[in-house]
Amino acid sequence: MRIFDTTLRDGEQAPGIDLTVEQKIMIANKLADLGVDVIEAGFPASSEGEFVATKRIFEEVGDKVEVIGLSRSNKNDIDKTISTGISSIHLFIATSELHMKYKLKMTKEEVLNRIYESVRYAKDHGMIVEFSPEDATRTEEDFLFTAIRTAIEAGADRINIPDTVGVMHPFKYYDLIKKIVNFVGEKIIVSTHCHNDFGLATANSLAGVYAGARQVHVTVNGIGERAGNASLEEVVMGIKKLLNYEVNVKTWKLYEVSRFVAEMTGVPVPYFKAIVGDNAFGHESGIHVHGVIENPFTYEPISPEEVGNFRRLALGKHSGIHGLKKLLEEQGIYLSDDKLKIVLSEIKKLAESGHRVTVDDAKNIALKLLNS
Ligand code: KIV
Ligand code: ZN
Repeated sequence: MRIFDTTLRDGEQAPGIDLTVEQKIMIANKLADLGVDVIEAGFPASSEGEFVATKRIFEEVGDKVEVIGLSRSNKNDIDKTISTGISSIHLFIATSELHMKYKLKMTKEEVLNRIYESVRYAKDHGMIVEFSPEDATRTEEDFLFTAIRTAIEAGADRINIPDTVGVMHPFKYYDLIKKIVNFVGEKIIVSTHCHNDFGLATANSLAGVYAGARQVHVTVNGIGERAGNASLEEVVMGIKKLLNYEVNVKTWKLYEVSRFVAEMTGVPVPYFKAIVGDNAFGHESGIHVHGVIENPFTYEPISPEEVGNFRRLALGKHSGIHGLKKLLEEQGIYLSDDKLKIVLSEIKKLAESGHRVTVDDAKNIALKLLNS
């Protein structure tokens, strides 16, 4: 399964995220170390910074990972992209009625001609071509298939199916990808590109993979336009653990890369975020903590080490004796069961008064008790 990371292109398109060339290069290095298969470095024709970033990212990591640049389906954009030195190009043009009429102001015939000419032009310049019919999931089906056939006849190597405004649900996207995979045959890689407007980007990406897509577009922490893109961490772990497909990603580096991107972009990782959130392996209630101490799989579907995250046993009004004992013993404090009960009751009182109880609080209560 190919992981196509678009953090530095679609992710960076999110309002409020503007990375410098140096920051983009640092993130690209992290992504290459993480083991993604493709890095979409930017949109070279959109600005000088994007041009320079794409060129430099290719020079820096192009020997370890495929580096691709986004390009509109016109010769000027393609020439600019080629002049960065990269050898893969991601061409796109919208195919839905809505986009063709209001944005492109082009007829179907004009769009088909543009697809053929741009893909052919890029192929004639020796590029690997991935083609995206933008807004594919709101495109009238016959026309979508005609657009895909046109791109393949012109030489496209991969077809990406963007759910540009996230209107798919897993059953629908599964059906669509299955049809496309059957239509294009073995030689062409079909890719997913899911946006998260209904919170379904991860589910839709997995449905696409289940239907035969061999590549997924993702961004670190799911950053991207509006509600974002499919999150790399969630999709990678879903593919690995739920669908049991191989991925090249070194999953134990996921947490570190997630935090690095959060720091560079200034967009924090939500507390409850799956896989990389601070509470993804957090436990407070006595029953859960007891279970996890006996065997972590009782309340953790994967181990935190597998994704580089940490188990966090918290203290609060739901805490129990087992969790408290473990936390105190980790601090070198060993108490009898009777004393533990006293400390636990103090902790619950503190939590109920609105205080967020820390291990230090528990330690102080325990030491006071021991010294009294
Ligand atoms: O969401 C989208 O349609 C895109 C395309 C440019 C592939 O990001
Ligand atoms: Zn997108």
